[in-house]
Amino acid sequence: MSSGITSLLVCLAAFSSSLVVLAQRGESCNATSSPIYDCSQSISSDCKNATFVADRSTFSKNCSQMSLFWDAPVYNMTLLFDSHLIGPYALCLERVMCTTAFFTKNDGSEVEIKWEKFNGPVCFKSQQDTPIMQFRFDAGERWHCYGSFINFFFRQ
Ligand SMILES: *[C@@H]1O[C@H](CO)[C@@H](O)[C@H](O)[C@H]1NC(C)=O
Ligand SMILES: *[C@@H]1O[C@H](CO)[C@@H](O)[C@H](O)[C@H]1NC(C)=O
Ligand SMILES: *[C@@H]1O[C@H](CO)[C@@H](O)[C@H](O)[C@H]1NC(C)=O
Ligand SMILES: *[C@@H]1O[C@H](CO)[C@@H](O)[C@H](O)[C@H]1NC(C)=O
Repeated sequence: MSSGITSLLVCLAAFSSSLVVLAQRGESCNATSSPIYDCSQSISSDCKNATFVADRSTFSKNCSQMSLFWDAPVYNMTLLFDSHLIGPYALCLERVMCTTAFFTKNDGSEVEIKWEKFNGPVCFKSQQDTPIMQFRFDAGERWHCYGSFINFFFRQ
């Protein structure tokens, strides 16, 4: 095959696969997830506004900390952490790399989370006996990280 035809085919292949990627990036979707292994689970998204419920009851009771690995983070991932706890508790999050993180209050307003440079997790108190807490992680419009860990635990 001549090199001209070969490079044309390579271009066509690259062009059609980028069309596929664009076509897959819908506006909103539910994230997909792997089975839980050793207190951790991997999640991924193929849209711009993904949602995932991190359900405490799906993890072993023995997990002192749980971990979500967001594979190839881009755009928004909204996480709903379902503690199944009624009454006051706190959800603590370790620093999440590659994203800007926001805590979503019950009234829908958001607070950006700031981690101090060298210290540990930031904890959020439950509001009005709601077992679920919502956070949004914005990884931006360009894929720049292989993956990002979201490590969390509950405190009663
Ligand atoms: C993602 O969701 C937010 C909030 O609902 C909305 O403002 C934004 O336009 C959505 N983005 C896309 C690409 O759908
Ligand atoms: C996400 O899953 C929920 C519950 O299974 C469903 O009601 C909802 O329509 C799904 N959303 C999208 C965008 O697929
Ligand atoms: C939890 O830990 C206990 C004590 O170490 C062990 O006996 C049990 O099998 C563990 N359960 C699970 C689901 O891993
Ligand atoms: C991510 O969510 C924020 C807040 O809802 C929204 O302003 C932004 O447009 C979203 N990003 C994308 C790529 O949709």
